Amino acid sequence: MKSLAQNLSLAANKPNLVLRSLCEADLQTLLHIESISYSHPWSQNNFLDSLSSHYLMQGLFDSSTCSPKSSMIGYFVAMKGVDELHLLNLTVAPDYHRRGYAKYLLSQLKILSVQQELNWIWLEVRMSNQAAIALYTSYGFIKSGVRKNYYPLGLKGSNDREDALLMSYQVTPCN
Ligand SMILES: CC(C)(COP(=O)(O)OP(=O)(O)OC[C@H]1O[C@@H](n2cnc3c(N)ncnc32)[C@H](O)[C@@H]1OP(=O)(O)O)[C@@H](O)C(=O)NCCC(=O)NCCS
Repeated sequence: MKSLAQNLSLAANKPNLVLRSLCEADLQTLLHIESISYSHPWSQNNFLDSLSSHYLMQGLFDSSTCSPKSSMIGYFVAMKGVDELHLLNLTVAPDYHRRGYAKYLLSQLKILSVQQELNWIWLEVRMSNQAAIALYTSYGFIKSGVRKNYYPLGLKGSNDREDALLMSYQVTPCN
């Protein structure tokens, strides 16, 4: 497992990286990345509801690129609970896969958890999403349960559902 320091060194090696809060002006880019990343992407209303609920929403950008669409590398959306952050969305644009950006975003989420004295990060992931499960496992998340029939499956209108794996990560300032 890579340490937080190793993940943060990504930022030191790439001075063009900018992490900032997402806003309504980012919607078109978010919807584009969603559409090329998921079989069942988040809708505009999902993002608008998250913004109006003041969820934690941050985007990672490459400031050396001019076009807004190509400059957004990835993003996360998380909801604050009593003692935990619930990660609702973590996405890295396909052009940027396997360069450590998702781990970097998770390390930023962890920093926010420490700052807000939240001890856990929870998430659901599709049972079939092997890439994401490998990512979370390599970061230190553990399998904590199964939510039956949690996600829609197949074409719009289909009644097919897919189980979610529930995963959790205990936040300590040193891990
Ligand atoms: C899952 C996702 C966020 C990973 O983003 P990424 O920036 O490519 O991930 P990283 O480069 O930080 O990968 C870190 C580690 O995760 C694991 N991993 C990531 N993608 C993987 C893949 N396709 N297959 C196997 N392992 C993978 C590896 O252990 C990897 O370390 P390595 O590259 O040194 O082997 C990205 O593929 C994505 O956005 N997918 C579509 C959206 C999605 O499924 N989001 C998660 C919803 S729960």
